[in-house]
Formats: sequence, C-alpha cells, structure tokens
Amino acid sequence: MAEEYSLAGDARYRPALGDFAAYVRGLLGGARVVGLSPGGVPFSTFWLASGRYPIGRSSLRHYLTPELEDEGGHIGYDIRPSERLKGYGKLILRLTLAEARKRGLRRALLTCDADNFASAKVIEWNGGRLREQAVSKRSGKLISRYWIEL
Ligand SMILES: CC(C)(COP(=O)(O)OP(=O)(O)OC[C@H]1O[C@@H](n2cnc3c(N)ncnc32)[C@H](O)[C@@H]1OP(=O)(O)O)[C@@H](O)C(=O)NCCC(=O)NCCS
Repeated sequence: MAEEYSLAGDARYRPALGDFAAYVRGLLGGARVVGLSPGGVPFSTFWLASGRYPIGRSSLRHYLTPELEDEGGHIGYDIRPSERLKGYGKLILRLTLAEARKRGLRRALLTCDADNFASAKVIEWNGGRLREQAVSKRSGKLISRYWIEL
C-alpha cells in the first residue's frame, strides 16, 4: 500500500516504507497520547481492509484544538489509489463516524480543500453541511468546513 501511494506521488505513507513496526507503534501511541507532536491530540486509527488487503485508513481525533477547528477537523481519511471511485471513501467515513458516535461525539467537524471534489462528495453523502469556506493558514488554498450531526 505504501509503495502504491509513493508511486502515485503521495508521500503520506513514506514513513511506513522504512521501519514498518515503528510506523505502527507511532499510530498506536497516538491513541495513548504517547509521543504526540506539540499541539497534537490523541487519535485513533482505523483500517478498511478486505481480509489482509488494506484499502484505506482513517484517523479520528479525540478532540479539537483551535488549529484543528481551523483546518483538519475530527476525521481524516484516504483510500489507496487503485481502490478509489468504488464507494470506499463514503464507506470509510460512514464507519469512522460510527466510531466517533461510540466515543460520545455528538457532531463532527470535517474540512477539505474546496477543490477536493471527491472528499466534498464523501462528506456531503455522509450528511455534511457546509458551514463556511476560508483560506487555509497552512496552504493559502480555499478550504471548506462541514459539520456532521451524529
Ligand atoms: C477523497 C477520497 C478518500 C475519495 O475516495 P473514493 O473511494 O474515490 O470515494 P468514493 O468512491 O466513495 O466516491 C465518492 C464520490 O466522489 C466522486 N469522486 C471520486 N473521485 C473524484 C474525483 N477525482 N473528482 C470528482 N469526483 C470524484 C465519486 O464519483 C463519488 O461521487 P458520486 O457520489 O456522485 O458517485 C480519495 O480520493 C483519497 O484518498 N484522496 C486522497 C486523500 C484525501 O483527499 N482525503 C480527504 C482529505 S479531506
């Protein structure tokens, strides 16, 4: 999976290409607040898989900071390039929202680049209501903020 992302020019799984065990330990530590970066929040990681074949991953942040309220929100997700356009994006967000509900969250904030049409569709399909658009302090790009009632 990490190789596939790299070949598609996406560096997000590059850390997994080196020491995979350390990569997984880092994700597990995220949920236990171990070794979080300054300003980081605890998060849970979920994998969408068919048997042992990983299809996608999502992160559920346990609470928001002002920075995450600005951009990032409660949930991030991605589907491996070869499995996109098959409905898995909608599915992984639906399943992650169910996990958020189990944790007691009553509504979830989702953000995405305004030109990320696939992600906007995934969010709206899952009940996301556009709250506002703003310019990202990180990228300078237009971003959309949505709330989903749980
Ligand atoms: C966003 C992402 C998770 C969508 O995954 P996916 O499995 O392709 O999504 P789905 O198959 O559920 O498609 C959802 C909708 O988006 C549409 N869509 C998918 N890719 C699209 C694209 N590149 N352009 C326009 N629409 C697109 C689909 O046709 C579908 O529309 P429909 O409801 O009218 O049928 C995936 O593109 C991805 O991993 N992107 C990189 C990471 C990312 O952007 N994550 C979100 C951060 S906010």
